[in-house]
Amino acid sequence: MADDPEEREFTLSINGEEQRIRATPDMPLLWALRQEAGLSGVKFGCGAALCGACTVHLDGNPVRSCVIPVAAAENSDITTIEGLQDDPTARKLFDAWLETDVMQCGYCQAGQIMSAHALLRRTPKPSPDDIDMAMSGNICRCGTYLRIREAIRIASGQEES
Ligand code: FES
Ligand code: FES
Repeated sequence: MADDPEEREFTLSINGEEQRIRATPDMPLLWALRQEAGLSGVKFGCGAALCGACTVHLDGNPVRSCVIPVAAAENSDITTIEGLQDDPTARKLFDAWLETDVMQCGYCQAGQIMSAHALLRRTPKPSPDDIDMAMSGNICRCGTYLRIREAIRIASGQEES
């Protein structure tokens, strides 16, 4: 099959490392991360910015990678769940997630943790309303919402609600 004439090389900063990938400018960042960079933690759910399964950070802010063209991410620091493994805030979230036994099927959970991490970075002691607002765009078909909220409270050093 012939190459797409619009395809070109992009240099992306992913989890602190530069990676070169070939893509068309409008390829969703989600596919660049999963298929070209081999990072499978980011998940495809709706493809329309409605479910949050594809959440990653661009310059520390949570975004839906299914609707971000790869060309728009070229000059940003991209962080995926794989890039948070040694992050102290993420470690607190991982521990709290285990403590509260959040996960069921697990499909939405990387996106949930990416949103929770961004919340704790900007609001270290979030109120229940802060948590609800920050997490409202992350859908969990298994209905783990209450445990997610509890885990975020625990990770932020607050009493269980
Ligand atoms: S797959 Fe991106 S928001 Fe649902
Ligand atoms: S744990 Fe199954 S979709 Fe959230």
